[in-house]
Amino acid sequence: MKEKFYIKTFGCQMNEYDTSRIVNSLNHNGYEQTNDILETNIFIFNTCNIREKAADKVYSEIGRLNHSLLKKKKYKKPIIAVVGCVGQAEGEEIFKRAPYVRIVTGPQSYHNLPKMISNAKKSNDFFINTDFDVKNKFYSKNYKLNRDKVSTYITIQEGCDKFCKFCVVPYTRGPEFSRNCEEIYSESFKLTENGTREIILLGQNVNAFLGKGLDNKSWSLSQLINYLSKIKKLKRIRYTTSHPNDMADDLINVHKDQEKLMPYLHLPIQSGSDKILRSMNRKHSVAEYKNIISKIRKLKPDICISSDFIVGYPGETERDFQQSLDLVNEIQFGKAYSFKYSPRYGTPAAEQKQISEEIKTYRLKTLQNLLTKQQKSYNRNMLGKYVEVLFENTVRNGYLFGRTPQMQSVCVQGSKNLIGTIKKVLINEAGLNTLFGTLSKNENICNIH
Ligand code: 5AD
Ligand code: SF4
Repeated sequence: MKEKFYIKTFGCQMNEYDTSRIVNSLNHNGYEQTNDILETNIFIFNTCNIREKAADKVYSEIGRLNHSLLKKKKYKKPIIAVVGCVGQAEGEEIFKRAPYVRIVTGPQSYHNLPKMISNAKKSNDFFINTDFDVKNKFYSKNYKLNRDKVSTYITIQEGCDKFCKFCVVPYTRGPEFSRNCEEIYSESFKLTENGTREIILLGQNVNAFLGKGLDNKSWSLSQLINYLSKIKKLKRIRYTTSHPNDMADDLINVHKDQEKLMPYLHLPIQSGSDKILRSMNRKHSVAEYKNIISKIRKLKPDICISSDFIVGYPGETERDFQQSLDLVNEIQFGKAYSFKYSPRYGTPAAEQKQISEEIKTYRLKTLQNLLTKQQKSYNRNMLGKYVEVLFENTVRNGYLFGRTPQMQSVCVQGSKNLIGTIKKVLINEAGLNTLFGTLSKNENICNIH
């Protein structure tokens, strides 16, 4: 019988992608995944360090696991591995704070896990590897896809050279690195052979993508998108997350020219105040951001714009905050995420004078109320319209889950053999997070492919 391992993922979609690669490499080394903690002695936590809460969650989860293993009288010493961004940021500190952890690796060195686990089984030592070894991370001779989701993520770009003053990513994920286009194409092609119909291209700065193309020259993200769109079974392409400074014209134009590229753009701005943007080291102004949005909306009027905001950044006055609200009112986002500023150890903003928790709480609530209102009204705009939905899975018996081109979740009654197809749906109910509708009876409207 194969030895089992348990893995839990925290944080972003890139971590989910990394987890799929970890699972893959462990499978190749003779291990099998389980969701039952009592079936195994090997526990892997793929972690996130972006905000304090995310990192704390990891520690409390590991503590809970250790406690529950002891309580269930599992006396065989577990092998607990912390991989990902907390591993990178905290390194050996983890062994001090959580002495039952045996293995630590960063997000760019987890391909060493099988070897580390086998070493940990042979001794009582602690093992750590936090090298930035991105090339080898993506290179694995035996990489065999066993993902069969209708919508699947692929990491195409890693790391960040921007150094926004609040952010740990340049320290945890290291410098910018782009994979080569042929490798991405072949991974995408295999996925579509397994049933994938939508690919979400991932990167911390995905629009800074510059990967080796077929002609040995560096290809931009728009060139990669056009290349991938040649895969027949691939119906939809998305990308996330982008930086305004890398929103080049060729990428803006491809939104109009490439019909497989979906009308959704997640473009974080963080603040509506030029003063705060400067002190964050964002290297762009509010006006430049607005200019990108208006250019892209001119070419693709139905595009859904999404963003990220931070409130309570050091030095943010009521006036600066008001400018963020003004910007939200002006742009009208379809969706947006907002966070209280969280000081991260080792980043410059953490050294500055901090804003009180009460002010942060109040500002977050105010901003979130506004964003929620906008999202609701954006969704309500779909009422009475036919939208093209790619069905991904069933939610409960007889009900399907899918997404609109603008990334909205849709729930309709329908048979599960529609999974993986795109159908027209008439929207008749719109909530904050989900649209509800009925499949169009009219075949002419109904069949997109
Ligand atoms: N505090 C709060 N939010 C942060 N983000 C990144 N770092 C921090 C931090 N220290 C947010 C940004 C980014 C998103 C992924 O997380 O808005 O775009
Ligand atoms: Fe972090 Fe994004 Fe800024 Fe890079 S561009 S430092 S990932 S917020």
